[in-house]
Amino acid sequence: MKLTIVGTGYVGLVSGTCFAEMGNDVVCVDIDEAKVEMMRDGELPIFEPGLELFFERNIREERLSFTTSLEEGVKHGDVLFLALPTPPSEDGSADLSYVMGVASEIADMLAADPALGYKIIVDKSTVPVGTADAVQSVMEEAGLEAGDRFDVVSNPEFLREGVAVDDFMKPERVVIGSHSEKAAKIMTQLYEPFVRQGNAILTMDPRSAEMTKYAANSLLATRISFMNEIANVCERVGANVDDVRIGIGQDSRIGKRFLYAGIGFGGSCFPKDVQALHRTANDYGYDFKVLDAVLKVNDRQRKRMAEDIVEYFGGSLEGKRIGVWGLAFKPNTDDVREAPSHIIIRHLLENGAKVQAFDPEAMETTRDVLGADIVYAADAYSAVDDVDALVICTEWHEFRRPDFTRMHERMKLPLIFDGRNLYQPKRMAELGFDYFSVGRPHYAPTTEPVESLLEASNDHAA
Ligand SMILES: NC(=O)c1ccc[n+]([C@@H]2O[C@H](COP(=O)([O-])OP(=O)(O)OC[C@H]3O[C@@H](n4cnc5c(N)ncnc54)[C@H](O)[C@@H]3O)[C@@H](O)[C@H]2O)c1
Repeated sequence: MKLTIVGTGYVGLVSGTCFAEMGNDVVCVDIDEAKVEMMRDGELPIFEPGLELFFERNIREERLSFTTSLEEGVKHGDVLFLALPTPPSEDGSADLSYVMGVASEIADMLAADPALGYKIIVDKSTVPVGTADAVQSVMEEAGLEAGDRFDVVSNPEFLREGVAVDDFMKPERVVIGSHSEKAAKIMTQLYEPFVRQGNAILTMDPRSAEMTKYAANSLLATRISFMNEIANVCERVGANVDDVRIGIGQDSRIGKRFLYAGIGFGGSCFPKDVQALHRTANDYGYDFKVLDAVLKVNDRQRKRMAEDIVEYFGGSLEGKRIGVWGLAFKPNTDDVREAPSHIIIRHLLENGAKVQAFDPEAMETTRDVLGADIVYAADAYSAVDDVDALVICTEWHEFRRPDFTRMHERMKLPLIFDGRNLYQPKRMAELGFDYFSVGRPHYAPTTEPVESLLEASNDHAA
């Protein structure tokens, strides 16, 4: 099939590349000239595991190309995907100017040239309920007849950054929202190769499809905020949230996933999507109280650890050096949009600390935001050189089993604030660290030097 993807961010580029991998002929359009130039040179503008192989292969085999010309894209594709940003507006609603702007340009092009024939316009961006209808109105206002010259489909994307290629190639479900049987049939054919294991292609009306995406993200965000609340209570009552998580996760009605306490959710989706659904409900005269609480809990949780650090040092971080491990909003991505790490770092800086940070992939994206406000360490161990404390913000694999002796030697104080609960509190105390995590007990560190403890445990193992 001939496809056009408008917007080559995390969603557009992954979708375009994976569609090409399935044999489709894909043109990707982006307004960012530097990005298009880079991709034409065979360079990926984002870090996404597994994407490079498909990207290179499909460019080489001429199924994947890039342009800044929307006109070229509209001429090429029978199906036009809009994978454009929908950032939050000041009032929390989704900013639809990118989607509606491109939709109206497409409408004008189709109206001016009947030879372009029939096109399916697909909203792949996360857009508020009613957007597909609004896109349809824009087309009709340009004199185009639905079913003859165009149809609009809502096809929300559920991929997760970090595992986006796998998610796209083997989606747990595909949602297709359309009033048109013809469009739904074509979309089903397009997605059939991706669900050969039997996962569902669900067809529904566009409003339900749009709502499905917001409901999914909002429910996941609610689980996180709920578990963070449980963790905060665990600390007060002397319970351990890890045990509680495992205890409740065995219940098949609850399930094991998405129950981890930490420093709150971030990223380009959850915060804005929860806000947008809250706003939509409000616009329709409904006060969605749970979502309001989810956002408030998350705001508090993202600041909490930084506040604990300031309190630990008696109210000021003047003259303190703090190391940070992890900048990306989650592992396996370079995306730092709404990252809890950045919120924590800003709080530390405001309170007088000097910050030195390391992330395996998100150094450049962080530099774009924080510039020279922090020091960018060459590796994880350099980030703890001479620090008064280390804060762990992202659970990258390489942080899970570090060399604690090396860390202890390099840190000025063996003090760790772990926002991702990577280590066992008791064990950390035995290794001589003053170790704070989320929703778990704190143990006073032993005074014995860490080397002798490690030697002792090695002897014991031998
Ligand atoms: N990132 C995710 O994990 C994810 C997952 C599911 C859904 N979504 C949704 O998908 C949408 C896109 O998200 P993203 O993370 O890929 O965004 P992004 O910011 O990474 O990418 C958007 C791209 O659109 C381009 N663009 C902007 N205006 C344009 C125009 N007029 N013409 C052509 N290109 C233009 C930008 O240059 C950028 O490359 C959003 O609605 C988001 O909520 C994102």
